[in-house]
Amino acid sequence: MPDSPRKSSSGPRVPAGRSAPDGPHAAGDQALYAQALADGGARGELLIERHGLDREPTSLRWWLRDPDAGPPHDVRALDLVTSGPVLDIGCATGRHLELLAGRGVEAEGIDILAAATELARRHGCRARVADIWTFRPGRQYRHLLLLGHNIGIPGRLARLVPFLRRLGELLRSDGTVILSGRDWRADSRITATPTASGTGPGSGYPGDTRLRHHYGSATGPWFDWLDVDPDTLAAQAARAGFCVRFARHGTGRYLAELAKVAGRDPGRGV
Ligand SMILES: C[S@@+](CC[C@H](N)C(=O)[O-])C[C@H]1O[C@@H](n2cnc3c(N)ncnc32)[C@H](O)[C@@H]1O
Repeated sequence: MPDSPRKSSSGPRVPAGRSAPDGPHAAGDQALYAQALADGGARGELLIERHGLDREPTSLRWWLRDPDAGPPHDVRALDLVTSGPVLDIGCATGRHLELLAGRGVEAEGIDILAAATELARRHGCRARVADIWTFRPGRQYRHLLLLGHNIGIPGRLARLVPFLRRLGELLRSDGTVILSGRDWRADSRITATPTASGTGPGSGYPGDTRLRHHYGSATGPWFDWLDVDPDTLAAQAARAGFCVRFARHGTGRYLAELAKVAGRDPGRGV
């Protein structure tokens, strides 16, 4: 088993991760999630396993528009949206887009999963298949959304500044990034000791992890995910030309709003 800062009882074997420098996620990594969306969760709950930790159920019921299902905790972040246009990055089946439309805010979404964007479009949302690393919309947005802990999309702390600069290219000068994240420090099973070897999920930062899905009897491949703590996020955001305008911390998770720093062009770097 590779070195890992995570204390693990299960000790799964981790295949080598993809080495793309900017860290796009392959839709194939999310195949079981796509399957669960497509068949409406017919094979039970979709489970997410964090490397070295337990499997956790992730309810898709709200995303599948079950009228009895409540929204996720971070839906309140939508209150930070002041006006459009909004880009929801990793919009899944478009529930946040619907809520914004109900408030009269112009919003569109992208997701790497066709199964997700098809459902979103079926419910009247503007959503298309695209990868945030390569998306070229031809315009800039007032707000970018990274909900459902999507600040984890860069997959590694080393990719966070390039990721934020990518976001900076898509934002108006008065624009903000509204995000939710998971703070690895609140999980007592994860130690703060970086690994020296740079192998395994803990390539120097304990929030560098890998996830995989379980659905029915199937197990998906591992893919990189970043559980960045809010202090590290603030420091990296400053390097990328952003400041933290708002932050609210809960147990193990947080909401934050990042604004462009006047006179800096996050797209160009420092
Ligand atoms: C953790 S889910 C969050 C979904 C939703 N935003 C929420 O609040 O629950 C992550 C979503 O981001 C999408 N995604 C992952 N990497 C992406 C990328 N590089 N560009 C666009 N979407 C991506 C996934 O397909 C998935 O639907």
